[in-house]
Amino acid sequence: MSNKKQIRIGLIGTGLMGRIHTNAYKRIPDFFSEFEYQPVLQAACARREEKVKAFAAQWGYASYETDWRKLIAREDIDAVDICTPNDSHAEIAIAAAKAGKMILCEKPLAKTVEQGQAMVEAVEKAGVKNTVWYNYRRIPAVTLAKQIVDSGKLGKIFHYRANFLQDWTINPDLPQGGDALWRLDVDAAGSGVTGDLLAHCIDTAMWINGGIVDVSAMTETFVKERVHQGSGKVQKVGIDDACIFHCHFANGSLGLFEATRYARGHKALYTFEINGEHASIRWDLHDMNWLEYFDHKDESQVRGWRRIHITEGEQPYMKRWWIPGTSIGYEHSFIHQAADFFHSLQTGKPCHPTFQDALETQKVCQAVLDSAHDRSWKDTGVKWEG
Ligand SMILES: NC(=O)c1ccc[n+]([C@@H]2O[C@H](COP(=O)([O-])OP(=O)(O)OC[C@H]3O[C@@H](n4cnc5c(N)ncnc54)[C@H](O)[C@@H]3O)[C@@H](O)[C@H]2O)c1
Repeated sequence: MSNKKQIRIGLIGTGLMGRIHTNAYKRIPDFFSEFEYQPVLQAACARREEKVKAFAAQWGYASYETDWRKLIAREDIDAVDICTPNDSHAEIAIAAAKAGKMILCEKPLAKTVEQGQAMVEAVEKAGVKNTVWYNYRRIPAVTLAKQIVDSGKLGKIFHYRANFLQDWTINPDLPQGGDALWRLDVDAAGSGVTGDLLAHCIDTAMWINGGIVDVSAMTETFVKERVHQGSGKVQKVGIDDACIFHCHFANGSLGLFEATRYARGHKALYTFEINGEHASIRWDLHDMNWLEYFDHKDESQVRGWRRIHITEGEQPYMKRWWIPGTSIGYEHSFIHQAADFFHSLQTGKPCHPTFQDALETQKVCQAVLDSAHDRSWKDTGVKWEG
């Protein structure tokens, strides 16, 4: 029996994120072995017994539930991890907070700002630890980009530009709703690429470059009707298939953002570029262990974009892993977030992004959708601290 303080995890939702979070918890005792707090895979929850039983057995959970309310009511659960579609985040999180559980919630925080506000109030009233899995912050190259900007090397920032491009919904015969395709159903997802993809870009952008003050956006739904897997009928599609917006940041820089699921050839091309007075940075998820950096102070004969391979022990998170020159993957961003969460239990500090931080991102998403709807500029009302 370990002498560590054990945090018994109750995982709700056993799909893509359920697997990737479980993988993250399993890595902590090995790679972060000095931590005081360690996760225990106590219970997994999904609606179909046969499936959740098999999941629990395969991934090493001690037990399972088919009703998230039962999982939350259990005294042997310390932390609830919400990996369900967006329409259930608020209800589960508020119930978990009332039961005094710590909460790790998938993004986007909620379907609406109102729901997000209620979630923030619930965790603050209960005084429970909380975090939202905006995991891209924890890719070492992205963390390094933040450190470089914070160091002042870029000087005044003029531009922040981000894209998140995919191509998986071009086929008009793809249905909406149901197990695998809830992302196309506005009732389950809340929005399309704005909440699914741009929310990530917005979280990273505000973390690195500060709050977004106002936005002007346009959205498009290229396929207007799809069969709904629940009703079996052809129904109007309520999500945004593509979204483009520009904005002002509080620091005076201009932002330009685009996300789509109709960029043929691109699977998950999340990129950003930051242009400052002295230097620029750019990053690309398809090549996630590299950061590109241009420094105008370099001697003119050798001045140019340099590609930095992020594998050195001095670079963020990398001393935990292998040897210089060898790469880590997408799953490590989740391992780093889980590790930061467990470390924050030791330090007593918040594990950003908290529900409050994620609410600010939700406000930007809402302002983007409202702006596209009304064809006018919208203030976001963001107060950024995360
Ligand atoms: N951080 C990221 O990069 C990232 C990536 C993908 C998804 N997500 C987010 O994670 C969440 C889940 O996405 P996913 O891709 O894992 O979806 P998924 O469809 O693969 O899995 C969802 C799971 O939730 C279960 N579920 C649905 N309703 C439930 C209920 N009432 N009770 C118990 N289980 C229920 C489903 O059976 C399924 O196992 C979403 O909010 C999504 O936006 C985040």
